[in-house]
Amino acid sequence: MYEQVSHSLLNEILDELKSRFQRDDLRHFYTRLGANFYAIHSLFSVLYGDRADFKKQMRNLVAVMANQYLQRSEELEETDKQREKDHNWFLSQEWVGMALYADAFADDLKGVTEKLPYLQELGVNMVHVMPILRCPHGASDGGYAVSDFRKVDTRVGTLDDVRTLSSHMHKRDMLLALDVVVNHTSDEHEWAHRARQGDKEYQDYFYIFDNREVPDMFEQTMPEIFPETAPGNFTWDEVMNKWVMTVFNNYQWDLNYSNPAVFIEMIDIILFWANQGADIVRLDAVAFLWKKIGTNSQNLREAHLILQLLKDCCQVTAPGVLFIAEAIVAPVEITKYFGEDAVIAKECELAYNATFMALLWDAVATRNALLLKQGIKSLPNKLDRASWLNYVRCHDDIGLGFDDYDIEQAGYDPKAHRRFLVDYYTGIYDDSPARGLPFGVNEKTGDARISGALASLVGLEAALEHGDGEATDIAIQQILLQHSMIMSYGGIPLLYYGDEIGTLNDCTYLEDESKASDSRWAHRPKIDWQKAEQRFNHGTPEQRIFDGIKHMISVRQAIPAFADFNNRELLDIENPHLFAFLRTNLEIPSEVVLVVANFDSEPQYLDLKELGNRGAFEYGQIRDLHSGEVPSMFKDQLVVPPFHFYWLCD
Ligand code: GLC
Repeated sequence: MYEQVSHSLLNEILDELKSRFQRDDLRHFYTRLGANFYAIHSLFSVLYGDRADFKKQMRNLVAVMANQYLQRSEELEETDKQREKDHNWFLSQEWVGMALYADAFADDLKGVTEKLPYLQELGVNMVHVMPILRCPHGASDGGYAVSDFRKVDTRVGTLDDVRTLSSHMHKRDMLLALDVVVNHTSDEHEWAHRARQGDKEYQDYFYIFDNREVPDMFEQTMPEIFPETAPGNFTWDEVMNKWVMTVFNNYQWDLNYSNPAVFIEMIDIILFWANQGADIVRLDAVAFLWKKIGTNSQNLREAHLILQLLKDCCQVTAPGVLFIAEAIVAPVEITKYFGEDAVIAKECELAYNATFMALLWDAVATRNALLLKQGIKSLPNKLDRASWLNYVRCHDDIGLGFDDYDIEQAGYDPKAHRRFLVDYYTGIYDDSPARGLPFGVNEKTGDARISGALASLVGLEAALEHGDGEATDIAIQQILLQHSMIMSYGGIPLLYYGDEIGTLNDCTYLEDESKASDSRWAHRPKIDWQKAEQRFNHGTPEQRIFDGIKHMISVRQAIPAFADFNNRELLDIENPHLFAFLRTNLEIPSEVVLVVANFDSEPQYLDLKELGNRGAFEYGQIRDLHSGEVPSMFKDQLVVPPFHFYWLCD
């Protein structure tokens, strides 16, 4: 859009850039800057327009973008251009991701490069390498307390190792996702050191207060994120004799985005990692980016403006790079991180589908899909050019973030139902085979979340311990059933390392003082490669799970209807144990896949008449794309075996 104020500033900036930067071909940069400048200028003015140094800050911002553009390699620029042309590239069903820790998965980054063939064997072609940046040696919240945003932690390797990993991945058509922890730094970061030394400029990078007056106001409405280990939202700093806002752990200092210098530092850091070869940048804890007294300081409008601004700037310098929003918040809030009032994502192209994840766990525990159906029905539609990361579990706890209204609609009392789920997964509930651990128990509110490895949560650990073959079969079916859902729902399935070989809880974290009070470490194990070798040993749980997931991935990748073009129709079917939806290939609308899952221990039937005339799923014509077999049917009634799923075509 053309508008005089921003345009005249753009002209001034362009003149300056042209005199400062020598590179001949800044053509693409200038075109993109021109296209996005009005948006960037508007957002920057809304956030920082009342400052006397507004223009200076705007110039600094553009200089950072130009500098990083000059650092961008030809190869990455080429990828940018290809992705600009093929802008739906990430919606394809071919992408399948995995999140892993470099050290726990393969000792270090070099090890990850060596293990790429293993990932390819499984079919994974997108890898989120969990935080690799320099962090304190003791507690560092799994690397989410960063002490240097541009250095790789010696524990996992060097910057060169990252570049080597990324170039090997690109040669193999794989994508690399890296974290940028945008909300906070470690208290060992240089900015924090300088703030401690009394440097006012750096104290302004954080939220620092002389006394409890402001903190007390905030505390009235801010919830606690880690109530057991880090109660409250502020920490007293002995050196400064001041209070610092620390929403997460007391060693994680929240960054102050009302200071434009913080924003500019962060976009510089994001672009730096884009230039090291990250295809995807995972923006951590984005819901928390703006703080305001009288609110819960989550999901505020300004947090969204910051993300839009980050996106607009990134598009100028590195347009091929995607953002993941890590916003584990209420269902109606999550979709907003794609961007509102737009068709294509204006914030993050990808977001964790925490709602679907939690709902799947509900279906497994209750053996029915009542809440799952209700919860999905209530999820707002997402934008066209945006996609979910669908996952069964990740490195964090499983939070029961459903909507109370949905729980009631499903016929339960919200408080009692949440209690049941925590009891079920922590094995307190009588009939439960689960071996999960409580996490984030808040005595004041009664809230609790759940930790534990997938295999332990679905009963594999207990089954193996008791030598119970039937229970082992059920646990394996549950693992595959949940994976079948994230593979077919629409979006990029994000596996969690170790789940593909049925890794169980790892309780060695209890011996490490810096981890013992954080039960999430139970599901962040070191991979046992001897156990992984069992995938070649027919009939072992490792082989059954690995091959099951591997097969599912290869089938998914060949079904165009599984690409994510908002081409899913949830079916309101009567049988409470079944969850069913249709996926349509938009290029060939007659190509429809009926996905149906039975969460119950008994066989269930689906009346195909309930589908009306959507798809032509007729008696005798149906085939399961996953197994290649024809499922059992009687007239219009399709039989779905216990804990089983079908991907049916006609
Ligand atoms: C994100 C991470 C989580 C971490 C938190 C604070 O939610 O996924 O592991 O504890 O941010 O950095």
